[in-house]
Amino acid sequence: MQQTQAQNELRPSEVIRLMEERHSVRNYEQYYAIPQEHLETILKAAATAPSSWNLQHWKFLVVESREDKEKLLPIANGQRQVVDSSVTVAVLGDLEANKNAEAVYGELVAKGLMPAQVKDTLLAQIEAAYSRSDAARLARDEAIRNSALAAMQLMLAAKALGYDTCPMGGFNPRQLMQAFNIPERYVPLMLISVGKAAKPAHASSRLPLERMVVRGSF
Ligand SMILES: Cc1cc2nc3c(=O)[nH]c(=O)nc-3n(C[C@H](O)[C@H](O)[C@H](O)COP(=O)(O)O)c2cc1C
Repeated sequence: MQQTQAQNELRPSEVIRLMEERHSVRNYEQYYAIPQEHLETILKAAATAPSSWNLQHWKFLVVESREDKEKLLPIANGQRQVVDSSVTVAVLGDLEANKNAEAVYGELVAKGLMPAQVKDTLLAQIEAAYSRSDAARLARDEAIRNSALAAMQLMLAAKALGYDTCPMGGFNPRQLMQAFNIPERYVPLMLISVGKAAKPAHASSRLPLERMVVRGSF
């Protein structure tokens, strides 16, 4: 099997260590300015997440100005990490990700990487799924399922570059939408603070594997 350069360079133990070492940091070096190229690398890495039909159901709202962070603070239940960290990224799920299909597959056809007929078949499948009688539930499940993968990747990419993160579900989604003019098309999943740790994360543990894994059948 042909191996990519990245596969050759990455040691599995390093990737697993990165996952083990990621913890939720709530105390940051105040206002540490993250270089824009680091932020871009993190967001691009997040966007390499897989997604159903490659519809890329995520949108990242980056909250970085002092003023916007202060606006976010009460919406995030006063959690200081949203102001003290370098940026807070609101991960949003796209309820109309089917509208991305043309852009996603059109590019492949234009580059000669996909026959136009395959694109048409896929677009028809996607439209059928997003027009089913339970389309609203499907759209929400898909938006959340796929964007959560991108959120995880964002946190790992940040860790790889020497930053820490804290995912937060403790915020008011309606107020977030109003304050930041988020269209109804998007569903807020979580906030993720990104910055330089000032204090390590609280200790956390995981349940033993026997509590989490079912082999074969319940
Ligand atoms: C969806 C989600 C929502 C969370 N919400 C909050 C939150 O609002 N505030 C907070 O301080 N931590 C929050 N956390 C962090 C968890 O408390 C933390 O991930 C968990 O205790 C395990 O600790 P660790 O991430 O340090 O390993 C959240 C985590 C997730 C995945």
